Amino acid sequence: MSDKTYTLRDNSTGDELELQSKSGSIGPDVVDVRPVYAKQDIFTFDPGFSSTASCESAITYIDGDKGILLYRGYPVEQLADKSSYIEVCYLLLHGELPTAAQLEGFSHSIRTHTMINESMLRFFNGFHHDAHPMAMVGGVVSSMSAFYHDTLDINNPRHRQIFAHRIIAKMPTIAAAAYKHTLGQPFVYPDNDLDYSSNLMRMFFGVPAEDYRIDPVAAEAIDLLLILHADHEQNCSTSTVRLAGSSGTNPYSAVASGIAALWGPAHGGANEAVLRMLEEIGTVDNVDKYVNKAKDKNDPFRLMGFGHRVYKNHDPRATIIRKMCYRVLDNLGQQDNPLFDLALQLEQIALKDEYFVERQLYPNVDFYSGIIYKALGIPSSMFTVMFAVARAVGWVSHWQEMIEDPDSRIGRPRQLYMGSGPRDYQAITERS
Ligand code: ACO
Repeated sequence: MSDKTYTLRDNSTGDELELQSKSGSIGPDVVDVRPVYAKQDIFTFDPGFSSTASCESAITYIDGDKGILLYRGYPVEQLADKSSYIEVCYLLLHGELPTAAQLEGFSHSIRTHTMINESMLRFFNGFHHDAHPMAMVGGVVSSMSAFYHDTLDINNPRHRQIFAHRIIAKMPTIAAAAYKHTLGQPFVYPDNDLDYSSNLMRMFFGVPAEDYRIDPVAAEAIDLLLILHADHEQNCSTSTVRLAGSSGTNPYSAVASGIAALWGPAHGGANEAVLRMLEEIGTVDNVDKYVNKAKDKNDPFRLMGFGHRVYKNHDPRATIIRKMCYRVLDNLGQQDNPLFDLALQLEQIALKDEYFVERQLYPNVDFYSGIIYKALGIPSSMFTVMFAVARAVGWVSHWQEMIEDPDSRIGRPRQLYMGSGPRDYQAITERS
């Protein structure tokens, strides 16, 4: 607790309630409003939770005004530059960077959990050939609780660890199976000699008839995107995982609910929507028209990949991804990539426009990621799946933190009821 107090005063009765604030290690204090309902019989009202801290967490810190993102205290720029996705997974799960031996042990465990049960693989045959990959991935992850019911005791730390390793290891395999199903190509089994991102690429793009050559720049770009999407504190999908998990449901079901939340275009679905938008805009000549559409209150169109609930300066992830775009396109000999040129132009115009400046709307993580994915041959329907693969570790880390928190309770918000008061049932013949 900090020593600051706030007074909530009911002006009609003069009743006062003293509320204590709590300090985090960095960042704004919070006012502990838990006594409000018990003592004053009122609720706080915060649709969209823009002023509400739902939990204590030690995993990720964001300063949206300064454009700072820290995983367990480490700036994301340093991790993007020096670390690997697997090391970042260890960091998020355990709170510290691993020693060489710890990293080897963790990496070995992830590599040896990559296969999925053959019965699970057969599920994919039941999906229509044009099913959206997110629908397949959500369904199959949910089904994992039907395969691993011997390790579903959420109060058993060893079970929790096995779950964490299984989800992280199998997400690329499930994603690749969904992709291969949409292509009608044979599934490519994981190769446990490869690192996480190279293995993912081989499962996506390899075919049994040929050897697959891994492009090191492409694998590095995938690894970077996985690092940058690995966690983002209490975002919509992570809060969904926490809320579902707070009931004590099994963790595979909680993660499946996170996948469902991620799919929406206001969240992880934005990367797919950005590419659709850039393709619709088509040429630089149309940029002004679409910027005007985005500003028009009567037009539902929004600049996808722009704006963020928390970042009001810049999204550090977007800056890093934009830099990687140049490297990937250069490596592929696509220096004149029309979609990238269009995105750069759109960013320049929007950043100078009063509407976007006033509302502090900047490119977010999804604005440039799709350009890399597309250049690497990943279709837009798979973009959000890639996000889900990366974010799995964030969901698992938050779920674990919640389960291990002795103060954790079932998540159960209240409401401001605006419906009818009590009334008597009328027989159908008496209704007008
Ligand atoms: N284009 C045009 N106007 C926008 C945009 C945009 N992309 N984003 C916000 N605005 C405007 C709103 O119309 C509103 O204007 P007003 O004050 O005149 O009414 C103002 O900016 C504030 O917007 P809100 O929707 O209230 O902001 P909120 O914090 O609720 O939403 C969100 C954030 C959902 C990310 C929003 O900016 C958006 O829809 N962006 C496009 C979708 C997107 O890129 N999502 C990915 C987010 S990152 C992630 O989840 C990984």
